[in-house]
Amino acid sequence: MEAENVESMDLESLKNLVEESIEDLVLEKMGSSLDRPIMSIAREVLLGGGKRYRPILVIMAYKAAGGSDYREAVDLALSSELIHTATLVHDDVYDQSKMRRGKPTIHSTHGISHAIIAGDYLFSLGFQFGAKYDERVIGKVRDACAGIASGEILQFEHIHDLNTKPEDYYAIIDGKTAGPFASSCSSAGMVAGARQEIVDALWGYGIELGRAFQLVDDILDLEGDERIGKPRGTDVHEGKMTLPIIYALTMLHGQDREHLKDVLTNFGDDRLHELVQLLETAGSFEYSRVLVSNHVERALEHLQALPDSDEKILLSEMALISEARTN
Ligand code: IPE
Ligand code: IPE
Ligand code: MG
Ligand code: MG
Repeated sequence: MEAENVESMDLESLKNLVEESIEDLVLEKMGSSLDRPIMSIAREVLLGGGKRYRPILVIMAYKAAGGSDYREAVDLALSSELIHTATLVHDDVYDQSKMRRGKPTIHSTHGISHAIIAGDYLFSLGFQFGAKYDERVIGKVRDACAGIASGEILQFEHIHDLNTKPEDYYAIIDGKTAGPFASSCSSAGMVAGARQEIVDALWGYGIELGRAFQLVDDILDLEGDERIGKPRGTDVHEGKMTLPIIYALTMLHGQDREHLKDVLTNFGDDRLHELVQLLETAGSFEYSRVLVSNHVERALEHLQALPDSDEKILLSEMALISEARTN
């Protein structure tokens, strides 16, 4: 990553910076006989077109927290993307997902053993890049990993559970998505040497942004959007109790509720239209969008604690872009 790029930092150039760093890493490892056999598999997902939100957040948060040389945060940014990608490879094994980032998943191409090994390898790279930071930063990264693991376990406990409550949903998404977003932002603040108030504000921003992001992802799964890189209705096939569904189960009564339960328990692609109609009757999409707006608003409120900077503006743009994905 070249220093001059940073003068004109916008979301696109930041994404390019992250992309180039990952490409460089892949090239380097492909040149090593130790890494090549496994990197030749792991690179399929690593270079597979992720949005790179977490590493972009790391660099923006570092600068917004007063960090003077973004290169100090690059390894943390890489670490967040490598660990995230590792969790996706393993997550696709548990969820038996066929597509990731618009491509066949590693386990469906190479088998489950290779996918587990590729995930482990990506984790090891992630930890190498995170290891140079101080204990507090490493602690945040570790906590995010524990949150992802516990969020996944909690999610399994609620698969096909029609009694899942909004609180359960929030516990799941805080673990698997909002926690890692918050960890990326707040640990970047620590690397910048910011005072506790700023680190806490970045944590709050990351949590609210992560909640909004996951809600949007869950809305798009139902409304259908190929940009998320997996077929529409994937969550329903997997028995995931996402907020629009939880809300409809509380709002609908009598025949409509029985109909919804039947669609959820005997789901197939041919029933997606029925499901969406029931969710519309319940007002699930409107309600979920209100929640997204509330989380985005709270994310923006947390940003007020930060000194004015271009990166603070970019962080608020990032929150507004997340919200706009559902429109
Ligand atoms: C996928 O994360 C898992 C969720 C938390 C929804 P992203 O949507 O950030 O996936 P990529 O990295 O862009 O592929
Ligand atoms: C995966 O969660 C996110 C992780 C952090 C492991 P999901 O299973 O909900 O995400 P997708 O739908 O596979 O992207
Ligand atoms: Mg999944
Ligand atoms: Mg999952």
